[in-house]
Amino acid sequence: MTSYATNLWYVAMPARELKRGGMTGRELFGEPVLFGRRADGEVFAFRDICPHRGVLLSAGRFDGREVECPYHGWRFGSDGRCTAIPSLLPDQKMHLDRIGTPAYPCRESQGLIWIHWGEGAAVEDPPVIPEIGDLSPGVAATLDLPCDIDNAVYGLLDPAHGPYVHNSRWWRSRRALREKTKHYVPSRRGFTMARHSPTQGGLTYALLGGNVSTEISFELPGLRIEVIQGDRGTVGSVTAVTPVTASRTRLCHLLYWTIPWLTPLKPVAGAFARAFLKQDQWIMEVQQQGLRHGAPQILINDADTLVKWYLRLKRDWQAAQEDNSEFVNPLPETTLRWQT
Ligand code: FES
Ligand SMILES: [Fe+2]
Repeated sequence: MTSYATNLWYVAMPARELKRGGMTGRELFGEPVLFGRRADGEVFAFRDICPHRGVLLSAGRFDGREVECPYHGWRFGSDGRCTAIPSLLPDQKMHLDRIGTPAYPCRESQGLIWIHWGEGAAVEDPPVIPEIGDLSPGVAATLDLPCDIDNAVYGLLDPAHGPYVHNSRWWRSRRALREKTKHYVPSRRGFTMARHSPTQGGLTYALLGGNVSTEISFELPGLRIEVIQGDRGTVGSVTAVTPVTASRTRLCHLLYWTIPWLTPLKPVAGAFARAFLKQDQWIMEVQQQGLRHGAPQILINDADTLVKWYLRLKRDWQAAQEDNSEFVNPLPETTLRWQT
């Protein structure tokens, strides 16, 4: 498996994909993971492998409280502990509490289900967008990119591909390259493009009324958050990447808004988001055809500086995890310039 940062919260899926009393088996980090939502609404995750004979537990049944293995009916609570072995007679005692499948910290917030991945305990809560409060996303689009998490993050951060990859009529013409100057400040585990007023208009900006400003932040492991605020309200987006295997990465893109009359636009916004992500998926596919042959990559200033920062953050974060020391963000506050 490729090297991904550990001891961090990753987005597992949009919360709406997990109904009350339901469960789903997903491959993440090269491991089978069972996600479930109990009858009381709480979400949970554990390794999707029966400790008896290795059957996928998600192929069994879930009654809203316990998961039953489809092979011999062993049952497991939402903490992964075995609660019943039906073949045992009353006089055949076993310590069921010593049998189980490993559970992973799992939380729900702002319409997302998060999983904490790594050996360390989940000492803090998953990231939130304060401007969004407890709103759920109006649009949730998910797709798999045929690349490792690093190349998926490069695509998230890369400002220079916009006019080339996303140059449909919806977007803008590739002829209109302009000089951009953006100021960045380091954050807890990433960096933030300081709040600024957009240089060009667009539908979102028109809908938000006057005094529009944007803030874009990135943090480990692969989380991009954009908040656009205007006189009429706020639009937020979360884009998160999570490894499925060493060569496949799940991308979740969510849009939130505080303006109720935008809700009829959901189908349009959803179609737009999916079309946009398909373009990224396509470029990752054609990139893999080159990378498969061991092609090296070149990182240039300043358009690829964010990618360099990501690699540096990840390296320092992982080093701190390994020697159990405190992570210190190594990035400078600086201004970057490029043409897009
Ligand atoms: S394999 Fe799961 S109960 Fe036997
Ligand atoms: Fe893109």
